[in-house]
Amino acid sequence: MANTAIAASSAWRHTPVTAEGRLGVASQHPGRSDPAYLRRRDALAAPADTHRVGTPYAAVDYTEAEHRTWRAVYRALGPAHRAHACHAVLDASADADIPADRIPQHAEVSAGLRHRTGFAFTLAGGVVPNERFLGSMEHGYFHAVQFVRHPAVPLYTPEPDVLHDVFGHGIHLSCPRFAALYRLIGHTANQVRTEEALDVLSRVYWFTLEYGLVMESGAPKAYGAALLSSYGEIGAHDRREVRELNPRDAASTPYRISGYQPVLFAARSLAHLEDTLGSFCADFDDDIANRLRLPALSRDRA
Ligand SMILES: [Fe+2]
Repeated sequence: MANTAIAASSAWRHTPVTAEGRLGVASQHPGRSDPAYLRRRDALAAPADTHRVGTPYAAVDYTEAEHRTWRAVYRALGPAHRAHACHAVLDASADADIPADRIPQHAEVSAGLRHRTGFAFTLAGGVVPNERFLGSMEHGYFHAVQFVRHPAVPLYTPEPDVLHDVFGHGIHLSCPRFAALYRLIGHTANQVRTEEALDVLSRVYWFTLEYGLVMESGAPKAYGAALLSSYGEIGAHDRREVRELNPRDAASTPYRISGYQPVLFAARSLAHLEDTLGSFCADFDDDIANRLRLPALSRDRA
């Protein structure tokens, strides 16, 4: 198993529940043959089955091994962020004040987010339908999981875990400008009714808030949450094509639910990202796929 992080995105929560869906791409999951890990992972995911958005839920008594995994990722991501993340992320990360030595509870993260941007985590256990996942953002709730990746490969996860949600979305949601984009996408999701329109929106979300880049001093820098939580992918510029951000192009580009994304989109600036998403969402409706003449959408599950 390569010791490289791969994509970890909340967009996985939009994928249908299948036999392998419980673990993301199960064949790549380092915990798939570890019954004790699977029991722990599922025990931490189970309360999400009955969770109502915005209601309280129990804290987790994380084990020392889980805290050790957190510390390993924290040590790796700090230098990676300084080398490859954009200025807005670095500033937001400083504000987020993520603990180095232990996994923070969701309630602790949410208290900070509420103070800074009005956001809070709400409990996810894995797959969350587009309508709920995206729509909750309008109301200041982001679906986040509590379980931790497998300890054997701390820099790798084939599914979103608490590290992805804190180091990716938690940093975003500490920044008012990024938080406003989450609310914008959430508001837009709540204006449409069709799965097709939600799928188009989720793809734009994927290539911006999960995998987005922004140009700084002529170089692409990461702001996407999946990149921020992916030690192996955040600076892997030699492995991908970088195009200027264009929502229609993003919505018609196949993406990988695991592994490196072959194509990423870079905004010219954070203001360009805000203007582009603002214009796209202002004209968004249930007919968006037809109006943009989008090709039949497919997902590369390689
Ligand atoms: Fe995510």
